[in-house]
Amino acid sequence: MRGWICVTIIRKTTRKITWLQIVIHILGWLPLAWIIFDYFSNRLSINPIQDIEQRLGDIAAYFLIASLVCTPINTLTGWREPIKRRRALGLYCFMYACLHVLTFIGVDYGFNWQLIGGIVLQKLYAIVGVATFILLLPLAVTSSRWWMKKLGRNWHNLHRLVYLAAVLDILHFAWAKKGNLFSLSGDVLRPFILGVFLLFLLVVRIPPLRRKASELRQRWTSRLRQRFSHRVG
Ligand code: HEM
Repeated sequence: MRGWICVTIIRKTTRKITWLQIVIHILGWLPLAWIIFDYFSNRLSINPIQDIEQRLGDIAAYFLIASLVCTPINTLTGWREPIKRRRALGLYCFMYACLHVLTFIGVDYGFNWQLIGGIVLQKLYAIVGVATFILLLPLAVTSSRWWMKKLGRNWHNLHRLVYLAAVLDILHFAWAKKGNLFSLSGDVLRPFILGVFLLFLLVVRIPPLRRKASELRQRWTSRLRQRFSHRVG
């Protein structure tokens, strides 16, 4: 019994760490370290709180989109590793979203709930931000294996909310920039690019397209394999 426990512990602790995992964790903490560095070396803009708030929001949005890139990468290349890294990307998104919201309610408005309520209800982009955050909350809480097993099929249905969260996030981003994604007015270049990319990621997920993409991939890889084995032979 003891030996079995030891073997399990050793197996768990010697699980191979991949280069993708290392890159994701570096990218996960680097922006925060950067913000802290800029804060202490006075490199933030004239309005440091707004600067921090905006940067945290941007990073949360990038991680949200990054978490949606994993499945299409797997479909288009057959590489399985990104699928295992979706959780880390999603949790980094949530971490930056929490810091973004905390900066807004704590640092910017000193937890003055009356004032915060007034601002949020006045501005559509803030309402959309709150909706995005509310959608992300259950996804982060239930992201563990334990919840996956407990919820079974419902886990997948629940986690489909990430698509809605991503769409709302792009709107929040564009409207926070006082822009219009459709007439392309205002400072909407980044939310526009993210929005187009998100559209591509969602289209690739449509079941017939997804099947077609993986069929094509399988055909190409088997052709490549045939050619390669001919040459080696
Ligand atoms: C309770 C929820 C939220 C509130 C109250 C909120 C509030 C705000 C505010 C006030 C701004 C404008 C900052 C400024 O320019 O002065 C902003 C911008 C932004 N927020 Fe949020 N937000 C929320 C949730 C989120 C979430 C969940 C995300 C991403 C996953 C997000 C991403 C962004 C982005 C990308 C910007 C634009 C930053 C820029 O100007 O570059 N927000 N948010």
